[in-house]
Amino acid sequence: MFLQKTPYKGARDFYPEDKRIQDYIFSIWRQVASSYGYEEYDAPIIEPLELYTAKTSEEIVDQQTYVFEDRGGRKVTLRPEMTPTVSRMVAARRQELAYPLRLFSIPNLWRYERPQKGRMREHWQLNVDLFGVDNIAGDHEIIQLADQIMQKFGAQRDMYTIRLNSRELINHITKNILGLDEAKSQEVIRQIDKKDKIDAFGFDKSIKELIGDKTDKLLGLLGCPEITNLPDELKDLPAVKRLHKLEMMLARDEIVNAKFDITLMRGFDYYTDIVFEIYDNNPDNNRSLFGGGRYDGLVGKFGVEPLPTAGFGMGDVTTKEFLDCHGLMPQLDTRVDLGVILIGDVYQQASSIIKELRNGGLSVAVDATDKSIDKKIKSADKSGYKNVLFIGEQEIAEQKYKLKDLKTSQEDLLTIEKILGKIKFKDN
Ligand code: HAM
Repeated sequence: MFLQKTPYKGARDFYPEDKRIQDYIFSIWRQVASSYGYEEYDAPIIEPLELYTAKTSEEIVDQQTYVFEDRGGRKVTLRPEMTPTVSRMVAARRQELAYPLRLFSIPNLWRYERPQKGRMREHWQLNVDLFGVDNIAGDHEIIQLADQIMQKFGAQRDMYTIRLNSRELINHITKNILGLDEAKSQEVIRQIDKKDKIDAFGFDKSIKELIGDKTDKLLGLLGCPEITNLPDELKDLPAVKRLHKLEMMLARDEIVNAKFDITLMRGFDYYTDIVFEIYDNNPDNNRSLFGGGRYDGLVGKFGVEPLPTAGFGMGDVTTKEFLDCHGLMPQLDTRVDLGVILIGDVYQQASSIIKELRNGGLSVAVDATDKSIDKKIKSADKSGYKNVLFIGEQEIAEQKYKLKDLKTSQEDLLTIEKILGKIKFKDN
C-alpha cells in the first residue's frame, strides 16, 4: 500500500498557482483594512474549548469543533472562528489599549463541516473588528469597509447584495410581540436562520411546531420587504430607527445594493444589534459570501468593563468562488523573472553572472541539469517563465547572453546591464 497523496478531507494543499490566488485575495484584504486604519494581529490556532462554550453558536461548539485533550488533560480545540480570540486579547489589555481600536487578522480556522461548494473544514478568514464605537458610525464604517473590499476586487453593484437586519428588532419581536421566553426565542431565531435551506412549506410547518397560534403573526412580520412596511409599533423602536439611518447613510455613499432583510439572523448568539451579510447575486452562486455585525457583550464576558464592538468575517473560499463566477480573477503568473539555461559545464563560471542578475532585483531560476537544451526550454515554458537566458562558454567569454522571450520567441544578444533594464522595464 502506498501513502495517500490527497490532503486531509476538507483541507487544501496550496501549490504555487493556488498560493498566488490566496496571496492576491489577502493583499486586497490587507490593503483595504489598512486604508481604514486597521492594524494586523495574530494568535495561536489552539484555544481552550471553554472560550467557545461561553457564548458562540451551539452548532459550532457541539458539531463543528476539532476538540481534543492535550497531554496535560486540558480540553482544547482548533479555533473555529476568531471573534472569541480577539475579544479575549482585547479584554486582556482592556485598560492599556486606546479606543477606538481597529484590528484585523487573516487566521486559518477549522470547522468539522461536510465539505461542499463554498464550505471547507479549513479556511482562511479576514476578520475586521472595531472596538469602542457605540454609535451607528461604527456599524457604518464596518459595512462600508466590507463593501470597499468588494469594489477593490472589481465587483459591480449588481453582482452582490448587502442584506441588513437588527438582532435587537428580532429579539423585540420574539420576546415582546410574540411573548416567547429566551429558550424558545433562540429556537425560533435558529429556525429563521435556516430558512433559505428549507422549502417554504417546511419552514412554516417548523415555525408552527415551535410557536403554534403565533405563527401567522411572525410570518406576517417576516414578509415585510422594507423597513417602511413594518407596523408603527416597530417603526418607532430605537433599533429600527438606527437601521433606517444606516440604510440612508449607505445610500448616500452610493451603496445602493444594501437592503433590509428581516429574515437575516446570522448564526452566532453573541450578536446584539445590527447584523449584515453579503450575498452573491449570480444565479450559479446564489449564496452568502460573508457577514458580521455588532456584538457588544463579548469583551465583558472576560470580567472587564464591556466594550461596544462591531466586525465581520470574510472567507477565502467564498471570495475565490465569487471572483471565478464573475470573471474577476486576474491572471496571476509566476513571479520568477528569468529561467537560466546553462550550456555545457559552466555552473561555476556562471555563478557570478547569476548573482549579478539577482542583485539587480530579478528572480532567477537556474536549470543546471544534464537535460538537452530543448527539454530545458520546454520545462522553463511549463514552469510559466516568460524569458530564458542561455549561458555557455562563448557567452561568458563575450559577456553577451542570449535572452529568449518564450511567448514571442524573440531572441536578443545582450549584456547583463541591458538584460536587467529590459526585464525590469517589461515588468513595470
Ligand atoms: P461566519 O458567518 O461563521 O462568521 O463566517 C464568516 C465567513 O467565513 C462566512 O461568511 C464565509 O465567508 C467564511 N466561512 C465560514 N465557515 C466556512 C467554511 N466552513 N468554509 C469556508 N468558508 C467559511 C464568523 O465566523 C464571525 N466570527 C465573523 C465575525 C467577525 N463577526 C464579527 N466579527
